[in-house]
Amino acid sequence: MGQAKPLHWDRSINAACFVHELGLRCARDCGQAGPKPRRTRCAIRLVPGPVPVMDAFGRKIDYLRISVTDRCNERCLYCRPRQYAGWNASGERLSNSDLLRIVRVATSLGFRKFRITGGEPLLRPDLVELIEQMAQIPGVECIGLSTNGVKLAPLAADLRKAGLRTVNISLDALDPALYRRITGGPLEPVLAGIQAAIEAGFERVKLNTVLMRHVNEQEIWPLIHFSAAHQLPLRLIELMPLTSRDVLTPENFLSVGEVMERIQQQDQLIPEPDARLGHGPARYYRLARSGALVGFIGAMTQQHFCDSCNKMRLTADGRLRPCLGHHDEISLVEALRQPDDELLCSLFRHALATKPREHEFRTCYQPGRPMTAIGG
Ligand code: 5AD
Ligand code: SF4
Repeated sequence: MGQAKPLHWDRSINAACFVHELGLRCARDCGQAGPKPRRTRCAIRLVPGPVPVMDAFGRKIDYLRISVTDRCNERCLYCRPRQYAGWNASGERLSNSDLLRIVRVATSLGFRKFRITGGEPLLRPDLVELIEQMAQIPGVECIGLSTNGVKLAPLAADLRKAGLRTVNISLDALDPALYRRITGGPLEPVLAGIQAAIEAGFERVKLNTVLMRHVNEQEIWPLIHFSAAHQLPLRLIELMPLTSRDVLTPENFLSVGEVMERIQQQDQLIPEPDARLGHGPARYYRLARSGALVGFIGAMTQQHFCDSCNKMRLTADGRLRPCLGHHDEISLVEALRQPDDELLCSLFRHALATKPREHEFRTCYQPGRPMTAIGG
């Protein structure tokens, strides 16, 4: 690389614009020099990029969550405000060929596990083809999907055939009226989706429940019994302040610690330290009496939650987001216009090198783009 040009601050992604530094044209035309970048330099010079990739804290990062759309057919209370209007223009979504190219670059850097998210990924019409082609890329060891389940029933068998291995389905309540209150939609198609996923023979089907005090706490036991009856692991997830800091009030927030205590009043929690139930951050326990396998995701209260982080995100509009709870994002859009992958690789490496030690949810994080836009 020749002499580096000065960095420019791209306000839209709250990060230094690398395109300028590499002497290329910036699609965003961020133009003006912004505040001094916090910790950004040319990724190519700073990070030679061993494989498999480690971040600055020695964590092996080999899991990429790819949001394939920011659209959703539900309106979950915790995910986005009802008045949210920041949708992408439909053309801003990455094409399948761009996504496949990014996956190839990611595997060349040591990424092995991929999860398709959204928004609601099943709203993307070419999803089965995407998964089919992704599954053929050398180095792709596992593809999973996170879905609200509404559209899963008619697609489950095709997705399985295409090479999808695991499915996580959101299920915040089993009471239909409450389910509708939380998500805005009906429960019935989701239950059909769960059944179809079981029948399609995925290697793992898990249920995700976001814990909300005064909203769905009375649903925890029914959900535990449902998961035991269907032999599906249930993950209880602490609410994160993605859309609004209000969720951290005592009225809304329910910690996994408190839920564990409540469960222990009626059943025994036996740790399952070896449970290899995917690549996520849950700590799993077997309930002695009910037989359910329950994972707890305590992003807000577990002190060392981020120590074992192994992932990065790709937003639907083509930005690498090293951490869900940190606003920094690195746009790959200009790099995708280049004929070779050099810039893409260096932006990936930069994202890895600047991945923060931990999320900022407990401290200074200001809710910004909702989960639909970032990718769940
Ligand atoms: N806090 C915690 N979990 C959330 N999810 C979406 N928004 C939030 C939030 N604010 C979860 C949903 C879904 C998964 C992809 O992300 O439960 O299952
Ligand atoms: Fe709910 Fe998921 Fe849709 Fe958000 S993206 S509204 S969490 S179903």
